[in-house]
Amino acid sequence: MLLRPLEMAQEMVRGAVLAGETVVDATLGNGHDALFLAGLVGAGGRVIGFDVQTEAIESSQRKVEAAGVAADVFSFYCVGHEYLSDYVEGPVAAVMFNLGYLPRADKAVITTVETTLPALEQALSLLRVKGVLSIMCYPGHEGGEAEAEAVVQWASELTREQARVMRYGMVNAPNSPAFLIAIEKVR
Ligand SMILES: C[S@@+](CC[C@H](N)C(=O)[O-])C[C@H]1O[C@@H](n2cnc3c(N)ncnc32)[C@H](O)[C@@H]1O
Repeated sequence: MLLRPLEMAQEMVRGAVLAGETVVDATLGNGHDALFLAGLVGAGGRVIGFDVQTEAIESSQRKVEAAGVAADVFSFYCVGHEYLSDYVEGPVAAVMFNLGYLPRADKAVITTVETTLPALEQALSLLRVKGVLSIMCYPGHEGGEAEAEAVVQWASELTREQARVMRYGMVNAPNSPAFLIAIEKVR
């Protein structure tokens, strides 16, 4: 069965991350990716998460507590991911971005080109060689198309000596379906 873009993001990240490493969830939302990442790094690893909404931090906190993962694995910050490098000491094995808005919350609070692109630059420079940066793009909502285009433009300008860049998404779906940009750092 074909994987959905979000599942593909997880597969690519799973292939890159080793137990004990540090990883980043750049858009915590409800904490699904943070919990997934915690499963990869294990008790000796670190998951650093960012979101601009208190609601998202609290929801993620509840999610990881309910799953019974040791609290010292996580550091969650109610801070924009454009300040990533002020909070994260590299190298990191993976950084996951899930752009757009928090489901069932204020749809006016969305990730934007102005903050996403600086965050991606910082994420790439913190990544170790063979580390993976995954970016779920949602061109279907207002503001989402411009952001998705900017992400594709940014990623396509990376040289092949710097990074391997893949794009994955449904081709025969209506309404601007979500797609994944996945980046493996080469050097
Ligand atoms: C699609 S949701 C993320 C879903 C999440 N990965 C999950 O597993 O539930 C996008 C999130 O990005 C957050 N966000 C918006 N601007 C941000 C920024 N500058 N830095 C970090 N997070 C931001 C929103 O508050 C929202 O919670």
